[in-house]
Amino acid sequence: LASELIEQDLRGEKILVTAGPTREPLDPARFLGNRSSGKMGYALATAARRRGGDVILVSGPTALVAPHGVETIRVNTAEEMYARVMENASAADIIVKSAAVADFRPENYVEQKVKKEGASMSLGLARNPDILFELGKGRRADQLLVGFAAESENIVDHGRSKLERKKLDMIAVNDISSAQTGFESDTNQLFVITEDGVVTLPLTTKNHTANLLLDQMVKHKQDRVL
Ligand code: CTP
Ligand code: CA
Repeated sequence: LASELIEQDLRGEKILVTAGPTREPLDPARFLGNRSSGKMGYALATAARRRGGDVILVSGPTALVAPHGVETIRVNTAEEMYARVMENASAADIIVKSAAVADFRPENYVEQKVKKEGASMSLGLARNPDILFELGKGRRADQLLVGFAAESENIVDHGRSKLERKKLDMIAVNDISSAQTGFESDTNQLFVITEDGVVTLPLTTKNHTANLLLDQMVKHKQDRVL
């Protein structure tokens, strides 16, 4: 579709998107990771760019190609993502945190490849920074801060408590107990929660979902101005 046919409703908006998993290294050969493919975040960055946004994407390791026209910064660990997000946060009008950030990292990085000894082993883990919580603490009132959450039960309750705890304007929650809306899928269904209530988006492709979620954000910004 030629860009002149797409409504440029994000023209002039600086949009920071995070996507993908993080990888927390254990030794030179191994890491702790998660099943995030990055598809939802890349779809959001692509759609926001097509709608005229000035988009920066901070991405964990994914198999995806950097979206056309989007400044893409690649990171590995949660701590790297935290650093790159903070560098770019204050200039952003809209921040969308679709990355699946590891909550914990191995307490100690082992310089040489770990050898197997004995019948079991345990791994000490340390808490990673909660990037979105820190963004909520330092936020400007005129910024739109949007979180994501993947939940397997009590979807809306968990979403609402994260909305409040992290001082977000909006959180998009998906149900990972369904194959059609969970990890690695090309489709998704989001429950979009704000202080005004819950909007249930249809089950559709991640590309269409990205545009529907951007519609909700644009509407939320307009409602706030009025
Ligand atoms: N998030 C983040 N930094 C972290 C963990 C999460 O920025 N260290 C962000 C995610 O990018 C997402 C939102 O917080 O936008 C919610 O992530 P989620 O894992 O659902 O929430 P947690 O606060 O980590 O709670 P829990 O995993 O215990 O449910
Ligand atoms: Ca988490």
